[in-house]
Amino acid sequence: MSSFPKLLDAIDAKELFAKMRETKAVDIVSNNPPSKRNGELECRRIFVLEDETPGDFVRAFQEEPLLRTRVSQRISSHPEAERGGQTKEGRKTATTTVLLPSFLDLYEQPDSALAFEMEEGAETDVHEAKWTLQKKYGYKLATTFMPNYARAIYEYLIAEVLASDQKTQPQTQTPTIIRVLDPCAGWGDRMVGLYVSDAGQNGEQPVEYVGFDPNLALYPGYKDMMTCAMSGSLVSITQSSLVTVDANNNNHNNNGQKKNRLQTTQTQTQTQISALRLEDKTQNTTFELRAQPFEEGAPSLVEETFDVAFTSPPFFDYEVYNEDTNPQYRDWVAEFYVPLFQQTARLLKPGGLFAIYLDDTSAGSIRQFLYTVVPTICPMRLDHKIGFRGIYSGRVREILVYRN
Ligand SMILES: C[S@@+](CC[C@H](N)C(=O)[O-])C[C@H]1O[C@@H](n2cnc3c(N)ncnc32)[C@H](O)[C@@H]1O
Repeated sequence: MSSFPKLLDAIDAKELFAKMRETKAVDIVSNNPPSKRNGELECRRIFVLEDETPGDFVRAFQEEPLLRTRVSQRISSHPEAERGGQTKEGRKTATTTVLLPSFLDLYEQPDSALAFEMEEGAETDVHEAKWTLQKKYGYKLATTFMPNYARAIYEYLIAEVLASDQKTQPQTQTPTIIRVLDPCAGWGDRMVGLYVSDAGQNGEQPVEYVGFDPNLALYPGYKDMMTCAMSGSLVSITQSSLVTVDANNNNHNNNGQKKNRLQTTQTQTQTQISALRLEDKTQNTTFELRAQPFEEGAPSLVEETFDVAFTSPPFFDYEVYNEDTNPQYRDWVAEFYVPLFQQTARLLKPGGLFAIYLDDTSAGSIRQFLYTVVPTICPMRLDHKIGFRGIYSGRVREILVYRN
């Protein structure tokens, strides 16, 4: 365990969690049916928050894997180029993408200047320092989704599916349990956002959340978040697995798959979490996280059993989370994005909604996939867009909502 200054020591986690329950995003656009501008569908709703600080709850519990994540950066060949690879006059310049070292890669180096500076400034805000020192030391921190945006989006999606059930089948009863799928659970923002949502916390609408994430480094944080603030009985399902250890570069792999440079020198047994399940019988809620790549775990789930799916998957290899446990793809579209959509379509009930936040860090190629390839590989169709606006950047991030 690293000895970097921890956000968890600087916050009151329970207080932040209570704040998260009180915080509601405001809906600044109500655009239904959505209009088009320049042929582009406009967002039906845009959610904004007045205060994003409750998001530190998740950030604090997942700080170590967050600070180990390596983030890519586009670098322009032109010395005067500004952000986005353009000169002041708007001329485009050639760019290359480099994967930066993580905060902890730099902090843990012997005689680290970053560690020295953090210690020197210990009496100042160490959390803030991690952000402000990014440029100086040449690292970039991974972003998180923010539980309160996720909360607003879940409340919206659940209301939508309940309303459309009533329209198409007025005689049917509201489903007893709303089942929510999160193919790439990430830091845990969506899980926590659903928990504090009107559905999750009031128990008026029982919910069952199933999330997948192969990054084993996230599971201690998930567990601690659940134990700290969420009620219910927690079961941790572990399994023993054979781990192959490469003594030359200490590079190990749990399943022997998708690691090319592996030189096997020894094997040993390791116990690891394969799933976490938190069940609250009084609230009728269940939150389950499965330590598997979605495309490997999804086929074992029963088809047409989920009402809503919502996720923010990796944006190709823009961020590198955990090279020991996460699959590495040669062809992201064929090996990851295609099964992501096909399995989600198989698992959603007819009429179910899939909301996905997938930023285009790949100069347009994911856009083509989302708009033109998806309808050819699965029954889901793009229904509309929603968005959320970050406080600091002011930028609206779009979420595509598909209907099964
Ligand atoms: C952190 S989230 C997305 C980050 C995004 N920049 C954001 O802030 O919304 C991506 C997660 O997908 C997980 N992931 C990677 N490959 C996956 C797979 N095959 N199945 C499920 N989850 C996966 C990663 O471990 C990571 O936790």
